[in-house]
Amino acid sequence: MERIGVGLIGTGFMGKCHAMAYGAVRAVYGDVPVIDRVALCDVEAGHAAKSASAWGFARSTTDWRDLLADPSIDLISITSPNGLHREMAVAALEAGKHVWCEKPMALTMADAQAMTDAAARSGKGTALGYAYLQNPALQEARRLIAEGAIGTPFDFRGSVDEDYMADPALPWSWRLKAKEAGLGTLGDLTVHLISLARTLMGEIASLTAMVDTVHVERPLPQGGTAQVENDDIAHALVRFASGARGTMTSSRIAHGRKNGLRVEVHGSKGMLWLDNERMNELNLYIAEGPPESRGFRRILSGPLHGDYARLCPAPGHGLGFNELKVIELAELVKAIRGEPSRSIGFAEGLKIEATIHAFARSAETGLWVKTG
Ligand SMILES: NC(=O)c1ccc[n+]([C@@H]2O[C@H](COP(=O)([O-])OP(=O)(O)OC[C@H]3O[C@@H](n4cnc5c(N)ncnc54)[C@H](O)[C@@H]3O)[C@@H](O)[C@H]2O)c1
Repeated sequence: MERIGVGLIGTGFMGKCHAMAYGAVRAVYGDVPVIDRVALCDVEAGHAAKSASAWGFARSTTDWRDLLADPSIDLISITSPNGLHREMAVAALEAGKHVWCEKPMALTMADAQAMTDAAARSGKGTALGYAYLQNPALQEARRLIAEGAIGTPFDFRGSVDEDYMADPALPWSWRLKAKEAGLGTLGDLTVHLISLARTLMGEIASLTAMVDTVHVERPLPQGGTAQVENDDIAHALVRFASGARGTMTSSRIAHGRKNGLRVEVHGSKGMLWLDNERMNELNLYIAEGPPESRGFRRILSGPLHGDYARLCPAPGHGLGFNELKVIELAELVKAIRGEPSRSIGFAEGLKIEATIHAFARSAETGLWVKTG
């Protein structure tokens, strides 16, 4: 494959991230096909045209189905609100396109299952936007656990906190509506935490959860208020298939936390932890040597970790979120080529969706529930 033609749907936060990744991936990796930025789509024509010109796309449209009809497009990025993912992804796969779709997959398990079935029928490559899995510090944590550096991992502590909805006076948006966003914090933030937990600890088998909306009404931009239709906060006790245990807490209303995705793995010989707000650092404690000189080691990311060297030859200089999206795209290209890949395709992503819906089910029933 010499060339991949791409079509991008949505030009907001994630749309720009995907566009930057398309612009950078060949410069970073060299051995990927030429990325031909064929067309992008957004609902407002002037805005779409401006984004296309700024981001190096040859043309723009306001109808995403135009992208599917274009035979020069091989890969579709879906960065629209969650409620559109199913229709767009299924249609793109049925049109013979590969799909890079933002998380969460969809509003409901039925929608996510339909996307997974369409992917299986098409045989095309799929990837979901689990960028934090590509963090070289996380990859190093995974490697250390796998080689037994902290012994048997028996306990996981994870939290994901942001404050983008912390102010109760912040206006209502699509993210708060069940028909457009589906679940709230669970779909927006908890999915990332689950993706990290699975990577470090293996599958989550069962859980019991408490899920709440704290700020139940929000002001409407045009005046009056609207009911918030999904969760602000979710907490759970989890049991991994390995028998290990853990806790997970998530909030979109946590004042002061900006990208507070933090994971700890406790093992029989040591412990490690990472915090996305300092995403180039891995903290490792090994219980050996004289007790008086034991302590955490702070390992700065560098060329020996994950794909760091592709982006930067110097340790400690650090990668950022947008660079993780470049790695994510390179992993999707591997999946499209049929090579081993860390991409979370739709079949893998379905397990993450099943876990957030298990949170919701458990919160409703007050019971432990299985995630499968
Ligand atoms: N991976 C991550 O870390 C991460 C971070 C933020 C958001 N997301 C996900 O990305 C998706 C988009 O979030 P965002 O923050 O970029 O939102 P956003 O509101 O910034 O952008 C959404 C874009 O989609 C466009 N859009 C809406 N309807 C459309 C249609 N019918 N056709 C074409 N374009 C349409 C909007 O005009 C807007 O440009 C969501 O699913 C969200 O959960 C992922």
